Amino acid sequence: MTKNQHAPAYTGDIAAQQVTSPEYSKENQELSFSEEQHAIWADLFAGVYQPYLLEHLCAEWKTGMDLLALDPLRIPTVSHLNGRITPRTGWSIERTVVRYTLADDWYKKFAQRVFLITDYLRTRDQMEFTPEPDMFHDIFGHLPFLTQEFYAKIEDKFAPAYMKATQEEREVIKRLAWYSTEFGLVVQENRFKVFGAGIISGRKELTRTIMEFYRLGRDNVIDFSQPVFPQLQSHFRVNRDNLHRIIDGVNSLHQKGQMSSADEGWNVVLGLYKKLGIDPDGMFGGEVILAPFDIETIARIPKTVYAFNPMLFVCESLEEMDILLDSYLKPIAMRA
Ligand SMILES: [Fe+2]
Repeated sequence: MTKNQHAPAYTGDIAAQQVTSPEYSKENQELSFSEEQHAIWADLFAGVYQPYLLEHLCAEWKTGMDLLALDPLRIPTVSHLNGRITPRTGWSIERTVVRYTLADDWYKKFAQRVFLITDYLRTRDQMEFTPEPDMFHDIFGHLPFLTQEFYAKIEDKFAPAYMKATQEEREVIKRLAWYSTEFGLVVQENRFKVFGAGIISGRKELTRTIMEFYRLGRDNVIDFSQPVFPQLQSHFRVNRDNLHRIIDGVNSLHQKGQMSSADEGWNVVLGLYKKLGIDPDGMFGGEVILAPFDIETIARIPKTVYAFNPMLFVCESLEEMDILLDSYLKPIAMRA
């Protein structure tokens, strides 16, 4: 959580940044960073780029990292990134001074196949976790994927639907993006793997998520010697009503400002379980709830940006993610 004056207390709503410098032009994209900023980049990179963490990331991220050829020690230039991305997928990167681009502006750029990266980099006191996406998140979390067609195809879906969507549908579209490209999980090699950039770029989110993978096995919620996705589905079917009650409860906690601290967050959710009479075991026994990527459930989540995520959604494969996103986005995009 940032300690600067723009965000005295994180409430789940990121304060609009005072823009003091003009937006970058197409010609004016490169910044020179201080040695301290390069050092922060290097430490963030090394913090995630560890074999015991990488084994839990999906294969496409690793493929993309090779294609992107990032220097672990230096923040890359925009021209390096575009040199690696544009020839492969047609997308390009633009730097922005805006720390958290609002969805309307974000999707306008998406419609031009432009992915914005902020020029904001977290500070030393946020190495483990920042609720606010910074350039490490944008570059390290998203851009390895953007070197690949399957991801460009997924990102291509959002803007055409968003442009034609009603206000209510736009909220759902934001959730779908949040729980896929930002916080999505996917099954690969019969294991849960991390796909979402928001998890990959935050050591705390990443380790918390991996701990839940292990807990599901240890507590015999999931038998990893059997296909895992059908087991997750059957837990979800049995517990769907309780999951929906939790979502509704989390939202009301959020409205009271009680989802604003990652440190206290889980205790708040545990208190909610107690109030709802839900036992903290089985699929509700860890610090994050895993459920299949179910659009109806995701659409019930009225707010995406908490200081921490109490639940994550899993797709059976990235192809399946594509199909599920299409099922919601395509009919909207096809409207006259
Ligand atoms: Fe992101």
